Amino acid sequence: MALKGQGGAIANAFDLRFKNIANTHVVKLGDQLLALWEAAGPHALDPITLETYGLTNLKGVLKDKEPFSAHPRFDPGHHGTRRMVTFGVKAGPKSIVRLMEFATEGKDAGQLISNREDSFNGFSFLHDFAITPNWAVFLQNAISFNPLPFILGQKGAAQCLKSKPNGKGKFLLIPRESGMFAGQTPRTFDAPNGFVFHHLNAWEKDEKVIVESIHYPDFPEVGPEEDFLQMNFDLIPAGILSSCELNLSNQKVETKRFSDQCCEFATVNPLREGLSARFSWMAIAERAAGYAPLQAIKKLDLLNLNQCVWSAAPRGFVSEPLMVPKEGSQAEDEGWILVLVWNGARCGTDLVILRANNLHEEAVVELPIAIPPGLHGSWVSD
Ligand SMILES: [Fe+2]
Repeated sequence: MALKGQGGAIANAFDLRFKNIANTHVVKLGDQLLALWEAAGPHALDPITLETYGLTNLKGVLKDKEPFSAHPRFDPGHHGTRRMVTFGVKAGPKSIVRLMEFATEGKDAGQLISNREDSFNGFSFLHDFAITPNWAVFLQNAISFNPLPFILGQKGAAQCLKSKPNGKGKFLLIPRESGMFAGQTPRTFDAPNGFVFHHLNAWEKDEKVIVESIHYPDFPEVGPEEDFLQMNFDLIPAGILSSCELNLSNQKVETKRFSDQCCEFATVNPLREGLSARFSWMAIAERAAGYAPLQAIKKLDLLNLNQCVWSAAPRGFVSEPLMVPKEGSQAEDEGWILVLVWNGARCGTDLVILRANNLHEEAVVELPIAIPPGLHGSWVSD
């Protein structure tokens, strides 16, 4: 990263500073809005005015430069009150995972209420995780990090990640301190071949933990020299929604695919986080199979695989759908889907609001600013 001048390898060589870009997620915790980037601490903002307060150590919870994930999960109340569960990873030949739970309600909102650290062999690139009432579930992909091109200024750090040939990924199950396995050591399970950025959900059934994730056949590398107008989509790995059933009593893992259609950013009703959920909403490619840009939103019934689709194609490109449940509703799919769409026809961003149960369009709000396609966001009820 060259801070001034023309950049390039000579300017960047041996410059190991990172800029905390705070670009991956934004969540509300207590009276602050946190802008998150997984390799460093959160930036705090005023939730109303969006004034930036600056880096925060969350009332002394985080040490200087301690990594703090950009993928917190919100426990809807498995242990009484709602919580934010999150983690930080110190990656190296051994990776140390710190699991943290924060109160989100009342006068204690923002307080750390649970904390543990576990060490695992091997380098870990852990972007996301999932929670159940008793477990925090991670997938340690078979990925290696070669820092040399970064040190020499030839590549960014993320471009130094590579799939390990013949490597085997692992599921890491860390007991939650509020759950029935508190204080026990983590469990590990072999993961299917491939790569996972994002999980949909996880839940428990008898002796099993079921983890639903978007699996890629390989780590999707995109190099800095890539010409996006010349890309052959067939050469890019497609994300496939699958589930892995981890049997705690016999260590067996059973895998099932839900669909062949390329997807990303899958979500369930937030009140079903950590519990079995029947419905999922996700961003999908228009093609029935194979990689392509995300242009549509799909609602998938995970039981019978019925689906409905809302499409922004050919000139619209969708971001992550957010599911906002209707207050007081008993139906899991009653509520709204909020999605930012890059509208290529007018070169602007639309906020599209869909009915969650049938994806009928409720409203299209043409935003006065253009928002580039991004990563994650949150809905907070007033
Ligand atoms: Fe993510």
